[in-house]
Amino acid sequence: MSDPQNLHDYEAPAAEVLEAGALGYYAGGAGDEITLADNTASWSRWALKPRVLRDVAHVDTSVELLGRTHEHPVLVAPMAYQRHAHPDGELATARACAATGTTMVLSSQTTTPPAEVAAAVDAPRWFQVYVFKDRAVTADLVEQAVAGGYEALVLTVDFPVGGWRERDRRSGFTVDKPVALNTSGSPTSTADLFAAHDPSLTWDDVERLAADSGLPVLLKGVLHPDDARLAVAAGAAGVIVSNHGGRQLDTVLSGSDALGPVVEAVDGAVPVLVDGGVRRGWDVVKALARGADAVLLGRPVLWALATDGEAGVTHALGLLRAELENALALVGCPRARDLDASFVQPAPWAGPVP
Ligand SMILES: Cc1cc2nc3c(=O)[nH]c(=O)nc-3n(C[C@H](O)[C@H](O)[C@H](O)COP(=O)(O)O)c2cc1C
Repeated sequence: MSDPQNLHDYEAPAAEVLEAGALGYYAGGAGDEITLADNTASWSRWALKPRVLRDVAHVDTSVELLGRTHEHPVLVAPMAYQRHAHPDGELATARACAATGTTMVLSSQTTTPPAEVAAAVDAPRWFQVYVFKDRAVTADLVEQAVAGGYEALVLTVDFPVGGWRERDRRSGFTVDKPVALNTSGSPTSTADLFAAHDPSLTWDDVERLAADSGLPVLLKGVLHPDDARLAVAAGAAGVIVSNHGGRQLDTVLSGSDALGPVVEAVDGAVPVLVDGGVRRGWDVVKALARGADAVLLGRPVLWALATDGEAGVTHALGLLRAELENALALVGCPRARDLDASFVQPAPWAGPVP
């Protein structure tokens, strides 16, 4: 492929190598994909207000999160079925994360067992939890995560049922590699796998998961500030503002637009992370300036994985980090952790804030 200069450059080559059903599954969103499109657009509704003459000879991208120093504030979001993108799947992503100081969040819908990823790659990582109707399946995954040294659990709370995803309905995309639920290896529609999620989950389950695992539990998929307050009250170790990459309910707020009220509601009690449409180093700067502690990166990782496996993901994560360093220098804030609201304002070109 030609030399990718940014995360967008990976998408077209990935589209060439991916089978049509997998491409639709990875790229697509729910309904009319209004939220999917807005996720990326919403970061551009904020303008940066750089400061000058601030000695940016040395730029420090590191941040603190759950008692650990992270080299930079970008985590790889949990994403299902990575061996449908590349034969090395989650192992390639995990190795690329280890090489770039990036914390990977491994999905419950992984195509490589959590224990296998842990045995193959010695680096900090988190595990994402879906609670299935068959609680024994979830318990086994969590047990592997605890034994494998995963440092935190990310309970995804925006998936009581699957989103209305027409690309998958049209393509008839099936998966045969997940390690949980359809262990027979027979092709299964994503809709059938989604039907295994337990829609009766409540706040009580959050406390139970934390108590049973002994790990910090972050809640992923919070958009409403009242839910952010409830998350803190339930003992969550962090809140991830996310609309699941526009894949669940269409026309909900973007992560970027939901961020401010959630940060206000949480009021520093726990870390707040955000995802959805983060594609540029300056998007990361805006997220941190507006109160996020870190961001998660989704689809571009899959495009890079499909295109060039571990090397592709390593390169893509390096590009985003280089853009972040560039943006920190140009915005006049050499330490990522010093970003604050003084560096941003609603963009004049985006119209009045509702
Ligand atoms: C193909 C795909 C699979 C995903 N699988 C999961 C998953 O298993 N668990 C989860 O919590 N989120 C999942 N997500 C959502 C991501 O974790 C993340 O919230 C979203 O992709 C971020 O948006 P972005 O892709 O625009 O960066 C998935 C997203 C994609 C694109």
